[in-house]
Amino acid sequence: MTSDDSSSWRPPIHGAGLGYRKELSKEFTLHRAEIDVVEILADQWFGHDNPRRLREVADEFTTVTHGVGMSLAGAGRIPDDYLAEIRKVTDACGSSYYSEHLAMTHVPGADSGHLCPPVISEESLRVCIRNVDQAQEALGIPLAVENITYSFSLGTGHVEAASFFAEIMAATGCFMLLDVANLYINSKNHSFDPLGYLDQLPTDRIVHIHLAGGLVTSTGHHIDSHSETIGEEIWRLAAAAAERCNPSAVIVERDDNFPDFEALVKEVAMSREIFYPRS
Ligand SMILES: [Fe+2]
Repeated sequence: MTSDDSSSWRPPIHGAGLGYRKELSKEFTLHRAEIDVVEILADQWFGHDNPRRLREVADEFTTVTHGVGMSLAGAGRIPDDYLAEIRKVTDACGSSYYSEHLAMTHVPGADSGHLCPPVISEESLRVCIRNVDQAQEALGIPLAVENITYSFSLGTGHVEAASFFAEIMAATGCFMLLDVANLYINSKNHSFDPLGYLDQLPTDRIVHIHLAGGLVTSTGHHIDSHSETIGEEIWRLAAAAAERCNPSAVIVERDDNFPDFEALVKEVAMSREIFYPRS
């Protein structure tokens, strides 16, 4: 796919929802009317029986698909068998795009065990573009690449790092998943203006939003734990993002320390109010 193919195409508007969790399937069904869309974490649905179960979820809910294992910023090419597994998931869900972190998780022969940010350099840019092109070709749909949190310098200014995303989008025609919590956390940990970061992005390419609540350590370091209620400052930054983009889906991420399901659904409703005020 080239930037010309997708410059005017946009995925449909799905609305606000939650990351889907198999163990909470009863609660999801109970609250179906209050959840516009669920996000399927593709890496959790590999294996022989999963396509059937996944199609059941996709029949019940509007779905979007997301992953953690592509290692788009890794030096090696993405393994073809990994992309084939992802394709089964996106096909089962009828996905119009697939989101993945702009991160390195592994290189041939070594696994970092977590998401590492890309080095901001010309060589790294070429690798990311090559990998995004490979993934889009294999999946047959555009990617939306996500900003991650990081604990150390990227080798350039933090706000300027946004232009790295812009160059990948321009070269590949991919979209962006803006994780508002990740942007907030990075801006706190590295003392930069998150609105300045947003201003460096082609915000019309943002098709997907993540929102989550994190922890703050006793030394004041912010952590992307997905374990807390979404805080006021993140809602404020979400409102600023909503003024600049028109996303297909807004997903509340919660992976730990689960509250009552009603509290999660309330956060979905707040997200809807901010990003889709007239719906
Ligand atoms: Fe995220």
